[in-house]
Amino acid sequence: MNDLKWWQKAVFYQIYPRSFADGNGDGIGDFEGIIAKLDYLKALGVDALWLSPHYPSPQIDCGYDISDYTNVAPEYGTLEAFKHFLDEAHKRGLRVILDLVLNHTSDQHPWFIESCASRDNPKRDWYIWHDPAPDGGPPNNWESGFTGPAWEYDEATGQYYYHFFLKEQPDLNWRNPEVKEAMWDAVRFWLDMGVDGFRLDAIGTIFETPGMPDHTAEIAMRDWLKSHYTVESPEEREAIEEQWEELFKHQYDLPSVHDLMKELRALVDTYPDRVLVGEEEKIAYYGNGNDELHLVFNFALMDNKRLIPSLVRDNQEERLSDLPSGAWPCNTFGNHDSGRVYSRFADGQDGDYDDALARLSLALLLTLKGTPFLYNGEEIGMTDLVLTDVSQFQDVHGILIYNLAVEEGLPQEELAALMPQMTRDRCRSPLQWANAPNAGFSPGGVETWLPINPNYAEGINMAEQLADPDSMLNFYKRMLHVRRETPALIAGDYQPLHEDAEDYLAFLRGTDEQTCLVVLNMSPKAHTLRFGLDGKMANGESVALIFSSHERDADVDDLANLAIAPFEIYIAEL
Ligand code: GLC
Repeated sequence: MNDLKWWQKAVFYQIYPRSFADGNGDGIGDFEGIIAKLDYLKALGVDALWLSPHYPSPQIDCGYDISDYTNVAPEYGTLEAFKHFLDEAHKRGLRVILDLVLNHTSDQHPWFIESCASRDNPKRDWYIWHDPAPDGGPPNNWESGFTGPAWEYDEATGQYYYHFFLKEQPDLNWRNPEVKEAMWDAVRFWLDMGVDGFRLDAIGTIFETPGMPDHTAEIAMRDWLKSHYTVESPEEREAIEEQWEELFKHQYDLPSVHDLMKELRALVDTYPDRVLVGEEEKIAYYGNGNDELHLVFNFALMDNKRLIPSLVRDNQEERLSDLPSGAWPCNTFGNHDSGRVYSRFADGQDGDYDDALARLSLALLLTLKGTPFLYNGEEIGMTDLVLTDVSQFQDVHGILIYNLAVEEGLPQEELAALMPQMTRDRCRSPLQWANAPNAGFSPGGVETWLPINPNYAEGINMAEQLADPDSMLNFYKRMLHVRRETPALIAGDYQPLHEDAEDYLAFLRGTDEQTCLVVLNMSPKAHTLRFGLDGKMANGESVALIFSSHERDADVDDLANLAIAPFEIYIAEL
């Protein structure tokens, strides 16, 4: 345990700055607001914060379109305010990592404005420009990962530029050494200031196949999207992943990205104790375990719509055995691009089990091996914001998907049903701090940048939950405390038990000093379980209870006859 780095022991919490807390009352979150909530975060029991982009940006992709890499969006505050925030976070022992968007800038970034100025501008080659095809159309058949062609024509200079994401997010040309130097300067700027690392945005998209050959996939992005919204099983997920990779094989995950990650790692390693987390799931991004990224997300686990024990077991078996030595796992269930955890794992029936399922998902995240990442608001069980009118969408990607669905002639009923899922706004609504006007996020009467989810008035808010011992928020606090106080849950190896069990997940987490049994009953059925773990018990047939979500008769249990209640979370020390 003592050999572990801070980021192996930490629980991370993602702050979406626009929606976290509005300090100056303009309807948009800011650093003043975040600073005022640092004590809340400390008391919650998280150890590190990941900030989604806080840089100046026209906000076409909610900050992932950066127009200045070494400054702060004016609506969030100033560089001074950022430094104050960093300082206050560090004082409380909270580490801070920033979002680093390497693949593209905003089209309003001065680099791109210069690049557009003329074909011989010194920054022309900082982006990816190409002559039109002989018929005047785009240079090849590549699509944008956000739908539509990946090329945008620039009338003034008569060439196309390439963008993997929105047309307002032109891709940088990472084969140009000047681009690399400029970006590494920005990296040093923040590291020198004392930030603890970076979450690396969309690294798979950084390089393209030289010569830019057409893809030969048989489907287009619009076909892919249709299956994307209906995929259920891991097999289906894998199948559509393969289609996606075929479609983007010249635009995604090129080998050269690994050399770049090694270079970035070497730079970051010149600073003590920093971390790089990739928005990627491929194990290859760990490099040899010590020379690329410290962490990459286990998205395969996150993308499941149901908590199913066999899925988790299969996922862990595959993932943990694939890790190179020295590499550390990393798990998450939600972020600013996904649906909210509470809504995703909801049972879809009459809602009776929703709360229990959300609690189980946290217990799973905090007891599996690896660094957990939480997303702001999940600790009070925030649910997806339901937007039923496209004019309310802030997420341009959501608008594109909606338009595509309309073009495809999706019947009105299906369109209405899919609409809330289409927009990433669903998980980006302002945090609900109190049962007060505007949920206490902004003063009453102010128009917030996205609508507030009205369920703040039904107990989904921090202030009321803090006062209720049985609330989701206090459950989060308890579970985070249990994890912090239980070394085996942080450092221990994972060993699955009862591998055929359909309703529950049982496993051991063990270090040389401590072994814990975790049982997560993901079903509404009670079970009496028998574990043949006698050799490992400290105290005859008994084990000492560390945590249970249910009242138990005693604080020691008989492992040959262990009663587990429906949806029970049970953690004991052997
Ligand atoms: C990442 C971000 C997403 C953004 C995209 C383009 O996937 O998580 O929000 O839209 O990159 O930067």
